[in-house]
Amino acid sequence: MSEEVRIIEMGPRDGLQNEKTPVSVDARIAFVAALVAAGLRTVEVGAFVSPKAIPQMASSDQVLRGVSHLTNAEFHVLVPNEKGYEAARAAGAQVVSVFAAASEGFSRANINCSVADSIERFKPVLARAKADGVRVRGYVSCVLGCPFDGEIKPKAVADLARTLWDLGCYEISLGDTIGVGTPTRARAMLRAVGANIPMAALAMHFHDTYGQALANLYAGMEEGVRVIDAAAGGLGGCPYAPGATGNVATEDVVYMLEGMGVRTGVDMDRLLAATNEISRLLGRPPASRVASALNAKKRMANRE
Ligand code: HMG
Ligand code: MG
Repeated sequence: MSEEVRIIEMGPRDGLQNEKTPVSVDARIAFVAALVAAGLRTVEVGAFVSPKAIPQMASSDQVLRGVSHLTNAEFHVLVPNEKGYEAARAAGAQVVSVFAAASEGFSRANINCSVADSIERFKPVLARAKADGVRVRGYVSCVLGCPFDGEIKPKAVADLARTLWDLGCYEISLGDTIGVGTPTRARAMLRAVGANIPMAALAMHFHDTYGQALANLYAGMEEGVRVIDAAAGGLGGCPYAPGATGNVATEDVVYMLEGMGVRTGVDMDRLLAATNEISRLLGRPPASRVASALNAKKRMANRE
């Protein structure tokens, strides 16, 4: 596996969207800048969703504008509908992400409509994006289980991924929203999706709730997937996915990949600094095992 893997950094969006402690716009901008400085060249920085639903993502327009001078990185934002698309474009978005779910229960809870209706909402977004030259990424949530509907069949994921692909999404990110998957199930799901659309167009977005994310990512890499969504410090979670914890930690992914000889372009020291600063603002240590280990090592070295 001596190739490159593209990491899509989720910290400023998925990472912060479920946090109780408010984080200022300036701190969100500084977090993004620190992640870019660490070598993360694709960062999801916010969401143009209802501020009543997700107050943490309010002022995402200011965050996006505040990082526009960082021309060496690509910034993504979530948009659930045309209203979100228009606001994202007004703030300068060049890449937007639509998000659907492989389960009806989660679709209703998260975006207040059926899966079919969500696709209808995305159609005008994709049409306008195409006309505007904006790239659209598509998420499928609950690919390995739903907090409301339970087990999800790989075919349901594969069909929805194909629909988003046919609508014009350039990449499909497959979300284990509640982190319940195991490697054999992740592999079976990816094979089913990979039979419908090219493996090169797939991304793995695995939450680490049950500690399975790295193992699942490794299984997915063996299937040929080379794009990984991760959040600095293991931040993250969706308020509409009860019990779900953070994304797989970027530090843990980088440590595993670099240890396997796969290049990531990420500077671990700088990433750790970004994680430690946001953790300080949130008032708790990072969930990442690698960040904890490296912080402990630094503390010991400082004592010597
Ligand atoms: P709705 O209530 O069905 O929509 O919400 P509506 O059209 O009836 O509008 C209701 C209110 O929202 C109105 O305001 C609209 O103006 C406003 P009011 O009249 O009540 O003052 N509104 C908006 N405001 C700002 N931006 C918009 C927008 N659209 C409507 N784009 C809606 C539907 C989708 C808007 C709502 O349910 C929502 O915002 N949900 C939030 C969903 C969300 O952000 N979830 C977390 C991200 S997804 C995730 O974490 C999973 C992922 O990480 C992958 C994985 O892990 O699986 C991506
Ligand atoms: Mg997520």
